[in-house]
Amino acid sequence: MENLQVMKSDMLNEVSSVQNMKAWDELRVALLGKKGKITEMLKALSALPLEEKIARGKELNVLKSDIEKALEDKRNQLAEAELNAKLQAEKIDVTLPVRPENQGRIHPVSKIYEEIVAIFGQMGFEVAEGPDIEDQFHNFNALNMPANHPARQMQDTFYIPNPKSADFDDSFVVRTHTSPVQIRTMENKKPPIRIIAPGRTYRSDYDATHTPMFHQVEGLVIDKNITFAHLKGCLYDFVKAFFELDDVPVRYRPSYFPFTEPSAEMDIGCLKSKSELKIGAGTDWLEILGCGMVHPKVLQAGGIDPNEYQGFAFGVGIDRLAMLKYGIPDLRTFFESDVRWLKHYGFNPLDFSSMTGGLSNNGGAAR
Ligand code: DAH
Repeated sequence: MENLQVMKSDMLNEVSSVQNMKAWDELRVALLGKKGKITEMLKALSALPLEEKIARGKELNVLKSDIEKALEDKRNQLAEAELNAKLQAEKIDVTLPVRPENQGRIHPVSKIYEEIVAIFGQMGFEVAEGPDIEDQFHNFNALNMPANHPARQMQDTFYIPNPKSADFDDSFVVRTHTSPVQIRTMENKKPPIRIIAPGRTYRSDYDATHTPMFHQVEGLVIDKNITFAHLKGCLYDFVKAFFELDDVPVRYRPSYFPFTEPSAEMDIGCLKSKSELKIGAGTDWLEILGCGMVHPKVLQAGGIDPNEYQGFAFGVGIDRLAMLKYGIPDLRTFFESDVRWLKHYGFNPLDFSSMTGGLSNNGGAAR
């Protein structure tokens, strides 16, 4: 019968000389597989007389477990070497500049967000947020739009059933505007309040200038002795900064929103021709936002005493601003995820918007 000691040292030599996982696996099969050398020897035991069977069986078991252990160690060693080789080969130097052809672009909506935050941030506004899925209290009731109020029909609302209640008034909505953030802010913060709330909004609408999901920025200022003059000054400064122009003619048209009284729409002066829209000059007007003095009922709904505090609010469509400022004709293309579109209309991620360093870094309305 073969000398197990000699055989073992041969096997261990074989194990240690294995260079890769493929050879390792072949060796494992050759030794321990169904027809492997050790397996065959174990099978041969049954032919031996009892005494011998016991003695040799013990020896073989020791051999088997030693070889198994050696194979296991070898496998770990090979795996580690393989990982190190991979890490070495895939090493990247994060300090290298980005290759221009691989650089991503900032979506115009994100760019406008950044610009608006930079402008209002410098005026001392904070950014506030609210949920996309709202209850009807925050989206409507608290904004002076009780159930059956005709103004609810102004917005084509997507309703979401409430699993806990069959009552339609308890159903949720995907917020139709960013105005509910006004209420959520008042609930959580004492005046003075000075916030903007950019975010997604949803209405059932679809054409070249409407998409079911779009973006708005809400603004809210509440303090003692706030007047319509503060609203006018603030929004005038905003449009000048936003369109990067020294002056922009503005006018306020009386309007109606349930949550403001008085309410107005702000227009900016422009020149419309067949091929071009020039902001800041000319005899035409373009509506850009809704605004007004916060209705006393809205202050009350937010837990603020209207006899002590007043406020103004405004709401702007971000996508529309992006279309105007960057000359993008169709809103639907914003959300088609076409990389060619993003390459054309997108922005360099390293051009941060700031009031001192420049907003759009490409001349804004002049583009
Ligand atoms: N929430 C209005 C809308 O989506 C926009 C708006 C108008 C917001 C006037 C305001 C405001 O805060 O004062 O049509």
